[in-house]
Amino acid sequence: MSPREDDRAGRGPGRERGRIQHYYSSSPRRSDKSYVIKFTLKGRIIELASSGGVFSKDKVDLGTQVLLASLDLPERGDVLDLGCGYGVIGITIAKLRPGVKVTLADVNPVAVKLACQNIERNGVGNASALVSDLYSALGGATFDMIVSNPPLAAGYAVIFPLIEGALPSLKPGGRLVLVLRKGVNAIPRKMEAVFGNVTLVSRKSGYRVFISKRAPPGQGGSPAERKEKAKEEVPPDS
Ligand SMILES: C[S@@+](CC[C@H](N)C(=O)[O-])C[C@H]1O[C@@H](n2cnc3c(N)ncnc32)[C@H](O)[C@@H]1O
Repeated sequence: MSPREDDRAGRGPGRERGRIQHYYSSSPRRSDKSYVIKFTLKGRIIELASSGGVFSKDKVDLGTQVLLASLDLPERGDVLDLGCGYGVIGITIAKLRPGVKVTLADVNPVAVKLACQNIERNGVGNASALVSDLYSALGGATFDMIVSNPPLAAGYAVIFPLIEGALPSLKPGGRLVLVLRKGVNAIPRKMEAVFGNVTLVSRKSGYRVFISKRAPPGQGGSPAERKEKAKEEVPPDS
């Protein structure tokens, strides 16, 4: 999505004293206005505090809802919610799967502060949140699942490294799950190029959920094997 499209969606950059501010900034504008968002998924009530300066501040984004409804979650293991915002995806997963350890990460410190408060608010002891520019602060941790409603407004300069970095950050057999607005075809193409596979698992209300799986060792799934293959595997426009 271009920044202009994002403006149309009402979530794009705002201006403060001549400086453009973005929800995906590492120094977003401060806002004192706060919100409480309440929703139910699979019988679990989730209550989230939010404020200005974060994505979809006063309601759960429709794409996020489509993603959450489509998730096939493991019973145990490690899940990363990358670009967590105020924590809706990671906290929901932690609530639904007490046996899973969930890491929530975002470049925006306002979002991470809210995510930490929301972890407490929802009493999920199996989740933690930290500020991280993509994978940079995760210390090489690996995950069974990386889930994201990615920051399309930040452009391919952020999204492509998010996909490339997912491969070495997944355990063999692990999955990258992204929700995308219909029509953003370069992103599933990139997933296919990096992982050698991409599957459309859900399509609803103008959103699509794609999964790429890191193949087990010896089956072409290592970052080195994929790097070689990716050079030959950029599929045509869909
Ligand atoms: C579309 S929002 C999704 C937020 C939340 N997961 C949700 O579903 O409401 C994308 C999030 O990615 C974050 N983000 C942008 N660039 C990032 C980066 N380089 N590293 C980590 N997070 C980033 C933004 O701050 C924003 O919170």
